[in-house]
Amino acid sequence: MIGFTKLFISAAAAASAVAAAPIVKRDAPVSAYKVVVDGLSSAVQAGPGSNYLGFRTLSWYDIAACQGYCNTESSGSCQSINIFRETYTEGSSGVTYKCSLWGEHKSASDATNYGQQDQGNGGLTQISWSQIQNRGSTYSNTPLKGAILASDAGHYLGKKDIGPAYDPAACAQACDSTDGCKYANLWQGWSQAGGNDRPTCALFGDGANVSGTDTNYGQGDLYVTNSRLLTKQ
Ligand SMILES: *[C@@H]1O[C@H](CO)[C@@H](O)[C@H](O)[C@H]1NC(C)=O
Repeated sequence: MIGFTKLFISAAAAASAVAAAPIVKRDAPVSAYKVVVDGLSSAVQAGPGSNYLGFRTLSWYDIAACQGYCNTESSGSCQSINIFRETYTEGSSGVTYKCSLWGEHKSASDATNYGQQDQGNGGLTQISWSQIQNRGSTYSNTPLKGAILASDAGHYLGKKDIGPAYDPAACAQACDSTDGCKYANLWQGWSQAGGNDRPTCALFGDGANVSGTDTNYGQGDLYVTNSRLLTKQ
C-alpha cells in the first residue's frame, strides 16, 4: 500500500511537471471544460441515442490529452468527456486509462456502465477514477507582448487562481464561469531567482480595450512571459 501511494505521488508529480509547460499548441483555440462529477466507479454508458463518439486509450490519467481529443473532433461535435481507469479482477495486471467522447453534455446519472465485462479468463473488468467533464465555450487564443494593463483596458473583472499549471483551458473555464466575462489574459511571471511564478489568469468583460494595452512587461527582476489573450467566441 505504501509502495502504491509513493508510486501514485511520483506519477502525479510527473503529471504536474508536464502540465507546467504550455499544453496547447501555440495559437490553437481552447475549450473550457467543467468537471461535472469525479471519483465514480462507473463509466458513461453508450447506447441508442447516447451520442457516443468513440473512445481513445490514454497512456496515463491524462485529462489534457482527453480534452485535446474532444477539441479536435469534427466541427465541435464533442461536448463531453469521460476519463476512467479500467482494471481486471483476474489475469492481466495491466491498467488501462480510457477517454470516451460524447456529442452532448453528460451527468452522473449517465454513468451506468459498471464494467464487469468478461475478460475471457474468468475475470471481470472494473472501473474506477471515473470523471465526467462537460465542454463550455470555445476561446480563440492569441499571443500578446505583455500582460494587459487593467487600468488601460477597463472592464476588469479580477484575477482567478487556476493553480500552479499554465493551463489555457483552466483559464478559459474561469472566464466561462464568471458572469460577463469575454476575455481572459493568461500569463506567467518569471524571475532569475525564483523561476516560474504561479500563472495569472486575469478576466475582462465585453467592452474592455484589449488592443495595444498589453504593455505590462514586469517589474524589477520579474518578467511577464507567455502572455496570451483568450477571447470567447
Ligand atoms: C486602446 O488602448 C490603446 C493603448 O492605450 C489606445 O491606443 C487605443 O486608442 C485604445 N482604443 C480604444 C478604442 O480606446
